Amino acid sequence: MFHHIPHDVLARMRELEQMDSIERRKDTAHFERLRQIPSGTGRFLALIAATAPEGGFIEVGTSGGYSALWISLACRALGRELTTFEIAEAKVELATEMFRKAGVDDIVSVVSGDAREHLGGQSNVAFCFLDTEKDLYEECYEAVIPNLVSGGLLVADNAISHAGSLSGFLDRAESDERIDTMIAPVGKGVLLARRI
Ligand SMILES: C[S@@+](CC[C@H](N)C(=O)[O-])C[C@H]1O[C@@H](n2cnc3c(N)ncnc32)[C@H](O)[C@@H]1O
Repeated sequence: MFHHIPHDVLARMRELEQMDSIERRKDTAHFERLRQIPSGTGRFLALIAATAPEGGFIEVGTSGGYSALWISLACRALGRELTTFEIAEAKVELATEMFRKAGVDDIVSVVSGDAREHLGGQSNVAFCFLDTEKDLYEECYEAVIPNLVSGGLLVADNAISHAGSLSGFLDRAESDERIDTMIAPVGKGVLLARRI
């Protein structure tokens, strides 16, 4: 996956990394910022997603499409499709353009709107990346876990950087007997869960 990332995908990753770093320097308003994952988390997502069982891939929180581009590497390798949800219209437009230019629009689709209105309808989920507002994690988690296939994987970002605000969610996941879980010190810290 990583030795032969298509040129157009790599170019869009670089473009988004640059946009993100410019925003940080300019101190752009929180809700407008891309707030995307570090590249190390992207590699982790692609590797973990590539081990997922049969089923669909979903993402909650597309932003400009950076994490989805990483997950798309696993989709391409396995012949899967990713559906990613984003509520901010400007980001939906940006991500749609990025996926088209990267040549992954045949395997990645963005759904515009509040993910919570769509998650209950996603069946046979093999892989989910949860990266939205922290106060929505628990609600999204409860909607996704029943739809995860056996052996299906859920990764949630910011498990270490936002351990305080996510403590209720992290406690819930750890004690949830439907899954096995751990926190990996990758990037901002990721919760990795596997449906039993
Ligand atoms: C941390 S950013 C996602 C970064 C992205 N995963 C990446 O690494 O490139 C969180 C995103 O969740 C979106 N969001 C917030 N509430 C949402 C909701 N209810 N449904 C879908 N997306 C939402 C925000 O607009 C924002 O773009």
